[in-house]
Amino acid sequence: MITLQIPATSANLGAGFDALGLALQFYNKVEMEESDTIDIASLDDTSVPTDERNLIYISAKDLYEVCGRKLPGLFLRQTNTIPMTRGLGSSSACIVAGLMGANTLLGCPLGTDDLVDLAAQIEGHPDNIAPALLGGIVTAVFDGRRVHWVKQEVYTKLRFVALIPDFELPTEKARACLPQTVSLKDAVYDLSRAALFSASLLTGKFENLRTAVHDKLHQPYRMALIPHAREVFDIAYAHGAYAAYISGAGPTVMAIADEENEFFAGKMRFSLDNAGLHGWQVHDLKIDNQGCILL
Ligand code: HSE
Repeated sequence: MITLQIPATSANLGAGFDALGLALQFYNKVEMEESDTIDIASLDDTSVPTDERNLIYISAKDLYEVCGRKLPGLFLRQTNTIPMTRGLGSSSACIVAGLMGANTLLGCPLGTDDLVDLAAQIEGHPDNIAPALLGGIVTAVFDGRRVHWVKQEVYTKLRFVALIPDFELPTEKARACLPQTVSLKDAVYDLSRAALFSASLLTGKFENLRTAVHDKLHQPYRMALIPHAREVFDIAYAHGAYAAYISGAGPTVMAIADEENEFFAGKMRFSLDNAGLHGWQVHDLKIDNQGCILL
């Protein structure tokens, strides 16, 4: 039996739509063993598919197929901390668990690049799967077949405070509301800010982050799907956040604050409650630099 730990991820980071993502110290665990049958269960109260529609199972089966093997069945036990469909990479965590678990069960025939490529082919974009697998902040380009990526470890004094509402927003819905074409001006607006984000994060120029997370490709459209998001942004900035952005496809809002802003999360909780936003959870997180590991 193997046990995997897979981090939550925050994708886009504002303007890096489908290109930037980072891993967070907020983990799912998966126990896995080859079996003659499909035996899947959740060890907490999260409901997961317990048959061949389970995404961890599907991903494991895909990896076996790529390696010319047939997966007879799988024993899976899932412990889910990452909330589902909230913009924190829960589906990527399942894909990465399935691929890395299956690869381990087969004696590691595939290397890291192969795993990243396969994960992106299953997910369709690389910005959650790459940091879930690799950790740190990852810049990734998916050419439809291969992912060209750079992982950078991040040792900053930043806290990433996830503000998670009590409703789900399916990624398909959050992608369906986006325009199919954009102006050159908007493209430049985003690509310059995406580059500014990683350069500023990695060099400690945190005063740039507020400008860097603005974008014209997805957040303006998704804001309408997330009731109270604007208010949550305003509260985060009022408490000294460097930046706030919609995490992945949403609905989670991520606020970035300095480590020395030590009561930031408590102040957020207090202000959210005062605004009647009791259903929004507050998680004070750090960047994970390891990615998916075997425990
Ligand atoms: N880049 C993706 C999006 C992340 O924004 O739709 C969510 O899977």
